[in-house]
Amino acid sequence: LHKDDCTMVIFGGTGDLARRKLMPALYNMQLEDKLPDKFSVIGVGRKEHNTAGYRELLSAAVAEFSTQTWDPDAWHSFATRIQYISSDVEDPASFQVIKTFIQDHTNQKEAVHNYLYYLAVGPHLFLPIAKNFSGPMSEGELEGWRRIMIEKPFGQDLATARDLNKAFCASFSDRNIYRVDHYLGKEMLQNIMVVRFVNTVFEPLWNKDYIDNVQITVAENDGIGIRGDYYDRTGAMRDMVQSHLLQMLAVTAMEPLRSIDEERIVSSKVNLIRALTPWPGDKIDTTMVLGQYRGYLEEKDVATDSSTETYSALKLAVNTPRWQGVPFYLRTGKKLEEKQARVTIQFKEPLSNDVNLILNTLSLEKNRLLNLLVIKVQPQEGLAFQFNIKKPGSAIEIVPAEMDFCQPCAFLINSPEAYECLIEDAIQGDKSRFSSWNEIESSWTLIDELFKSYKAGSGKLNLYEPASWGPRQADSILSGGKVRWWS
Ligand SMILES: NC(=O)c1ccc[n+]([C@@H]2O[C@H](COP(=O)([O-])OP(=O)(O)OC[C@H]3O[C@@H](n4cnc5c(N)ncnc54)[C@H](OP(=O)(O)O)[C@@H]3O)[C@@H](O)[C@H]2O)c1
Repeated sequence: LHKDDCTMVIFGGTGDLARRKLMPALYNMQLEDKLPDKFSVIGVGRKEHNTAGYRELLSAAVAEFSTQTWDPDAWHSFATRIQYISSDVEDPASFQVIKTFIQDHTNQKEAVHNYLYYLAVGPHLFLPIAKNFSGPMSEGELEGWRRIMIEKPFGQDLATARDLNKAFCASFSDRNIYRVDHYLGKEMLQNIMVVRFVNTVFEPLWNKDYIDNVQITVAENDGIGIRGDYYDRTGAMRDMVQSHLLQMLAVTAMEPLRSIDEERIVSSKVNLIRALTPWPGDKIDTTMVLGQYRGYLEEKDVATDSSTETYSALKLAVNTPRWQGVPFYLRTGKKLEEKQARVTIQFKEPLSNDVNLILNTLSLEKNRLLNLLVIKVQPQEGLAFQFNIKKPGSAIEIVPAEMDFCQPCAFLINSPEAYECLIEDAIQGDKSRFSSWNEIESSWTLIDELFKSYKAGSGKLNLYEPASWGPRQADSILSGGKVRWWS
């Protein structure tokens, strides 16, 4: 492992993401000896904390949210690496103070001035922070690298994303900008490429001749919790579809790579996202459904007349020769029946004369003959394959059977948390699991187009019951009643 010295600065060091994900990820890395010897983390927030108080706040969070067992000794040695500085990042003058603090601290540790900035603040602060960066803390001042990790959503639409990108590019070269989509750090997302390309049984079938439709579901059973202010300005399309769902789609459907390097992976995904359109020939209302759960308007920090969607379902086409005529169904929502993220590949029914001959010869009834491949991303990771068998003891019935692979059961280890992988990559300068600007630009182009058409259509927001699978109108986008949502 190549481990540069690193001073990590978390803007938003007191927030939900820092407490629930980032600090537990760093603690896990400490336990797994994945942190550089000279590694420190400096939290930045407006709240007043002394270092001891900040460490106290984090120890409770790490004990609760780390996926590893709580080890007081390991915590103690990790805690000595943590500092805190109270500062308002909207105030340009504060950046001089933060800069001096980071430099002094790094000098004290006799470490190289490699700074990893992490923006774990609300997206409305990205632009002011980007502007304040220019000058004091960007590249080219002191020896050492400067890298910046930026949370999603990167912009609210294409125009704001472009402004943001321009502002960050004024202080950092693109190779030092790490746009986070934590789904890219998830084990099973990387596994999709392996399953496709390293198994002879799948890649030859991965096209319009054998696949009927592809479904991508990211369902959450929680509501918006304490994040009403953020969520009400964002909604499901911008919060989830623009990033996680389109990335899952891109990895599932991209063209095979001639070699696995960062540039080729990115360009293959970009080409795929650029080839996406609403389903051709359909009206927008039968290719896109937005919904809101009952009770959303009473949530804290939500406008009482809010029209923000908490659910969205889409039917998209991938306009490449490989995928002509294959619908890609996407759905995501809050307060749904079950928490799950998965990709379901539904293969075409066998139609050949041979199959009919067998069915006739054996006097088997022709039920629906389904082959499904389910790639389970969370909560449990794994793969399931559904195929058809004759029911034992029955002369006439074909029934589905399933092969189910559970990843943690097979390997008896928990996959590293996505944020662990991403922070480790950023320290090592590996950008292959981050969204490139081109991916972000093309995904916002699609989302803007979808919103524009939807508003020009009915613009309807369909109410749904909490703990259901969303508005029933979402069924109407599934082709001809032959398809159902798989969950
Ligand atoms: N939470 C998640 O599960 C999650 C998941 C994926 C992505 N994200 C993304 O992560 C980012 C942070 O989300 P979050 O849920 O952690 O938000 P949050 O709980 O509201 O935390 C915001 C943080 O920003 C700090 N802050 C706000 N205004 C500031 C200012 N003017 N100067 C300095 N610090 C300021 C707050 O600290 P003070 O109050 O002390 O100022 C707090 O530490 C967002 O972009 C979100 O989209 C979050």
